[in-house]
This record gives sequence, C-alpha cells and structure tokens, in this order.
Amino acid sequence: MAFPILLATLKLLALVSLAVAAGDSSTASGQILLNCGESAQTVDDSGRTWDGDTASKFAPSVKGVAVNASYQDPSLPSLVPWMTARIFTSNYTYSFPVNLGRMFLRLYFYPAAYEYYSPDGDHFSVTTPNLVILKEFSASQTAQAMSSAYLVLEFSLNVSTGSLDLTFAPSEPQYGSYAFVNGIEIVPTPDIFTEADTIFVNRGNPASFSFSPDTALQTMYRLNIGGQTISQRDDSGFYRSWNNDSQYIFGTSGVSFSKDSNLTIEYTPKVPNYTAPVGVYDTARSMGVDPNINLEYNLTWILPVDAGFSYLLRFHFCEIQYPITKVNQRTFFIYINNQTAQQHMDVIVLSGGIGRTAYKDYVILTTGSGQVNMWVALHPDVSGRPEYFDAILNGLEVFKLQSYGPNSLAGLNPPYPPPREPNENSPLPQNPGANPSGVPGGGKSMGAVVGGAVGGFTVLLITCFGICIVYRRKKKITKDYVNPTSTLPSNYCRHFSFAEVQAATNSFDQSFLLGKGGFGNVYLGKIDNGTKVAIKRCNPMFKQGVHEFHTEIEMLSKFRHRHLVSLIGYCEAKSEMILVYDYMMHGEKIAHSTNVW
Ligand SMILES: *[C@@H]1O[C@H](CO)[C@@H](O)[C@H](O)[C@H]1NC(C)=O
Ligand SMILES: *[C@@H]1O[C@H](CO)[C@@H](O)[C@H](O)[C@H]1NC(C)=O
Ligand SMILES: *[C@@H]1O[C@H](CO)[C@@H](O)[C@H](O)[C@H]1NC(C)=O
Ligand SMILES: *[C@@H]1O[C@H](CO)[C@@H](O)[C@H](O)[C@H]1NC(C)=O
Ligand SMILES: *[C@@H]1O[C@H](CO)[C@@H](O)[C@H](O)[C@H]1NC(C)=O
Ligand SMILES: *[C@@H]1O[C@H](CO)[C@@H](O)[C@H](O)[C@H]1NC(C)=O
Ligand SMILES: *[C@@H]1O[C@H](CO)[C@@H](O)[C@H](O)[C@H]1NC(C)=O
Ligand SMILES: *[C@@H]1O[C@H](CO)[C@@H](O)[C@H](O)[C@H]1NC(C)=O
Repeated sequence: MAFPILLATLKLLALVSLAVAAGDSSTASGQILLNCGESAQTVDDSGRTWDGDTASKFAPSVKGVAVNASYQDPSLPSLVPWMTARIFTSNYTYSFPVNLGRMFLRLYFYPAAYEYYSPDGDHFSVTTPNLVILKEFSASQTAQAMSSAYLVLEFSLNVSTGSLDLTFAPSEPQYGSYAFVNGIEIVPTPDIFTEADTIFVNRGNPASFSFSPDTALQTMYRLNIGGQTISQRDDSGFYRSWNNDSQYIFGTSGVSFSKDSNLTIEYTPKVPNYTAPVGVYDTARSMGVDPNINLEYNLTWILPVDAGFSYLLRFHFCEIQYPITKVNQRTFFIYINNQTAQQHMDVIVLSGGIGRTAYKDYVILTTGSGQVNMWVALHPDVSGRPEYFDAILNGLEVFKLQSYGPNSLAGLNPPYPPPREPNENSPLPQNPGANPSGVPGGGKSMGAVVGGAVGGFTVLLITCFGICIVYRRKKKITKDYVNPTSTLPSNYCRHFSFAEVQAATNSFDQSFLLGKGGFGNVYLGKIDNGTKVAIKRCNPMFKQGVHEFHTEIEMLSKFRHRHLVSLIGYCEAKSEMILVYDYMMHGEKIAHSTNVW
C-alpha cells in the first residue's frame, strides 16, 4: 500500500531566516490551508499562513478534540501544521467552498502521542460523497513502515459541486479507534491531466487512452530525475515537491547532468510553465558516454506501488546539452513493467528542439494484491540507427488512478517492516551496478524493501534539514556496529551509560512513553536530579544504521537552534542506540518562538 508522499522539504536555511510577513494571497487564489486543532492563524516555516479549524468558516461547530502533540520529533519540518491535531471519535465532515474543477488535496499526518489517545489507535477512513480516499487507514502504521515521523498524502480531485466535503470516520469507534488530521491543504489547478494524449500500455500493444475528466488521482512519486530535490515552495505554483531519484535507480545509474550554461529552457504552448518547474527540466539522467556499455543495460527505476490499480506515468523530457539538437541523434525505448510503452522516443521530435520542454503520459494497469514493484526502463533504439546509443529522462511523476465501482483510491496499509537478521538476503533485487556517486539511497534501501509508500517517505526523511537518518540495512554497517569506531563527537554532546538511561526512564516504563515513531519509542526521562529529557530508543530493527546514528548525533549537535529540539546526548551500549533530547513542552516551545506564531 503505497502512500507516497509529498514532503515538505524545508531547508534549515528556511528555518533560520523566517519570512513571517506572509501575505494572504492564498485565499484570493482559492487556496485553503487549515491547521487542524488550532484556533489562531499561524505561519509555517516557509511563510504560508494557515487558518485554525476551531471556529473556522470551514468547520462551523467542529466536533472532535483539539490536541497538542506531546513531543516534537526533530525531523518535523515546521511546527505548523504539525504540532496540533484534531481527533475524531465519531464521523465529522469538513465542508470547503471551492471553485469547480481540479485541485490538489494534501493531508498532513503526524502520528504522535496526543493527550491520552493511544499513539497507534488511529484507524479511519477519509471520504468525499463519491470517493473513498483512505480506508481502514492507519497513519501510525504507515509512518512506522516508512520509518518516517510524519506523512503528507497528495490527491488530485475534480470537484463538480462548489463544495469539497471531506468526512473523517473512525473505523471502529466502539473499540476506541479514532481519526485524526494535522493539516488540510487545497490548491486549485488547471486541468493538468487530460490534455496530453495518453498511451495505454497493454502487453506490448500501446493504444490511445483517455480517462474520465473527473477521475481522481493520488500522487505516488514525483521525481526530479538526475537533479536535486525541489521543495514545495520552489515549485511553479502548486506547492508540489520533487524528490531526487537516487534511491529508486536500480543497477547501473548512468550519469546525471545539468543544462549547458548558454541554454535557456523554453516552455512550449503545449507545456505551460506550471507543468513542472525549470529545475526539473534543466537536469537529467542519461546512460553514459560509452555506447557499448549502454547497449548492455537498461537505465532502470523501481517504484513500489499498490497492486490492482491503473497508474498514470508522466515522463518529462528536455534535451539540455549540445550537440543534441537534431532529429535522430538520441532515440530510445521506454519500457514500463517490462512492456514496450514507446519504441522510438526522440525528444527533439517531441519538443521541437533543444531546450524546449515536453512530456508524455502512459497508463498501465497493475494486477495482484498488496504492493508490487513498478519497473521503468530506458534502452537505446538501435534499430532506428541514432547517432548516439543513449537515452535521457528529466522528470517522472506516477499517479494512481481511482478505481470505479466502488470509487476508491484506497490501498492497504503497508506491512510493518519484518524483523530480519541483518545478514539475511534482501528479497528485493540486489543493486548489481556500483553506485559511483555514492549517493545515499543508491543501494537497496529500507524504502525499497518495505515498498510503496516508502518511496516518498524515505525521501521525506532524508530531506529533513539534511539530517539524514534513514536506517538502511547494510552488512557493512552491521560490521561497523560490531566494532564501533568511536568517532562520536564527544565535544558536542554527552555520553550516557545504559544504566543512566534506564534509571532516567524507570527501565523504559510504558507510563513514561511519550510517543512512537518510525525509529522507535520516545520516553520522558529525568536526569541530573530532575531535568526532563526526551529519550529516543531506536527501534532494534534499525540497529544497523550505526553510521546514520552517528550522523544524526553530529548534525543535531551542530544545529542547535530553538526550532529544533536539541540533542543533549546519546547512549550506545549493549546494542542499543539511544538519543537524549532536551524536553520542551509544546507551550514552552511556542513561548520561545513568537516570531513564528
Ligand atoms: C461514518 O462514516 C462511515 C464511512 O463514511 C460510515 O460507514 C458510517 O456509517 C458512518 N457512521 C455514522 C454513525 O454515521
Ligand atoms: C471536471 O469534470 C467535469 C465533468 O465532471 C469536466 O467537464 C471538466 O472538464 C473537468 N475539469 C477539469 C479541470 O478536469
Ligand atoms: C538526493 O536525495 C538524497 C536523499 O533523498 C540526498 O542524500 C542526496 O544528497 C540527494 N542528491 C542530490 C543530487 O540532490
Ligand atoms: C508562467 O507564465 C505566465 C505567463 O504565461 C507568467 O505570468 C508566470 O509568471 C510564469 N510563471 C513562472 C513560475 O515562470
Ligand atoms: C553554446 O555553447 C556550445 C558549446 O558549449 C556551442 O557549441 C553552442 O554553439 C553555443 N550555443 C549558443 C546558442 O550560443
Ligand atoms: C521485469 O523483469 C525483471 C527481470 O528482467 C524481473 O525481475 C521483474 O520482476 C520484471 N518486472 C515486472 C513488473 O514484471
Ligand atoms: C531491457 O528491458 C526490456 C524489457 O524488460 C528487456 O526485454 C530487455 O532484455 C532489457 N535489456 C537489457 C539489456 O537488459
Ligand atoms: C495547545 O497549546 C497551546 C499553546 O500552548 C495552548 O494555548 C492550548 O490550550 C493547548 N491546547 C490544548 C488542547 O492543550
């Protein structure tokens, strides 16, 4: 069950230099930002203003309980809208007045301990009157499977009634399950899906395909191929985030490159500038300079998705380096799930010249149940005798299309990652090619192993303030773990013994539990005669990530900043990895950061 995500990739810089003067242009453009469980207007770290849902015009007589998260995970990109939530123990419907037509709906979830609600008791559906968006959904389970502290799910809906009615329904309220949400974002868009001609890929028989203009979609992946992650606020208008593709590349990863410096990217009438930001088109990945090597491999990406749905894949292209300016210099095949989607892709023909943007859509049906891997591969089209045996891709978006009868976008919750021995072989194909650039995620990652949603989630993690804490299973790392190299930055933070940590938490007493996250449990602790601390005991499943553990310690120690929970120390003993943070109640935090609120 893939719950790919969008992440708010806000850089630390953005945090430090807060632009508080947020103009309220959002309302004018039909955008809605609702910070659930909050009463006042609040500004997030990228300067966007969120309305509270208490006494809001969108939620008159809102039911449910407004709650504050008891713990601020250090990976959260912003306090707003993450630190407040609304919890529903019975059905509640938000009614958003919207213009007719297509819009992005983004749901923000931070599964954490909220008052006395069990952190993993969330189990709910989200529906509109004619579409099931999420069913039997558990944000806590999904986040845990993704090793992420928080989730952003993005949907594209075409609303035809002037009102978007969104119902949150706990699955089994009689057994204490509840629904919750931290933030709801609506961004109107033009019809960005049905204009281009779309090819349906079916057993090697591509056929023209059109889907109903009111079809709902869920964003599974949005990748800036060969480029860097583009954050929500750097998008061209719709606050999408574009993740880099390094963790999805399978096998030989080719070369990534940027546009020629004297070239200007030009949008064409068929590709308006909101299709994707320039940053997507001005970087790309190709196979490499050696035609003999290129002929021997496919440039391949593996993207876990929910089985049983059709997917729209949008390939973004732009030739960005001389000498490729003419027809039939670089032509290639596009394979989706080992089927030929395109035989003779020539970007110059499609776009009309170097520096001009283009995209092409394909739809493929997946079968089976649970999660399956979607394979996307490129290979030179030798039969067309191009000048270069090579292929190129600048961007890739993957959207799940709603099923009809019942009208639904909902898949299953992803399985919890199975507890496995570190040296057990991964069920996922091994990465045979070297990962020359050594980019994290280039090898087999947790993300790829647990599948689907992971995609976005893993990226999400990695991009948080650049504090990389994806605990990947690597034998190499396990070995390091057995012989710790002890290069921890003791000048930055304190080392705690395991006994000290045990004493601080009354041996990890459940009553001290503040929250559960992908990385493990967080406990309230007391050290040094009563100083309160938050103690994160990393999930034993992630023990192998000793390198990342060290990285987090180092990064957090450096980035002491009032918007981040600061790290006090760590404990590494008895195959335990434990981080000790400053404990700040939400209220104190707010008091100390008035320029945000
Ligand atoms: C709550 O909503 C769910 C799903 O929309 C529905 O099945 C259920 O009957 C509703 N419960 C009540 C009490 O209205
Ligand atoms: C929305 O759906 C209606 C049909 O229900 C269609 O006429 C309209 O073009 C669609 N709008 C967009 C922006 O896709
Ligand atoms: C790609 O993203 C990963 C994490 O998602 C990051 O570590 C890496 O530096 C990024 N690479 C580029 C070129 O942006
Ligand atoms: C996109 O193009 C429109 C006019 O076609 C222009 O007003 C707008 O500023 C452009 N946006 C970006 C992000 O370049
Ligand atoms: C851009 O630079 C390349 C060499 O790097 C050159 O071949 C090409 O003619 C230049 N193009 C323009 C439009 O100046
Ligand atoms: C595509 O082929 C590879 C082997 O070449 C296989 O491992 C993989 O499962 C296939 N993918 C799909 C979706 O059929
Ligand atoms: C590339 O992928 C296609 C489709 O799965 C397959 O038929 C072909 O053998 C692959 N080529 C190479 C060199 O791996
Ligand atoms: C949440 O925190 C804010 C700020 O400290 C406070 O005003 C509000 O009362 C708290 N809400 C609840 C439900 O505790």
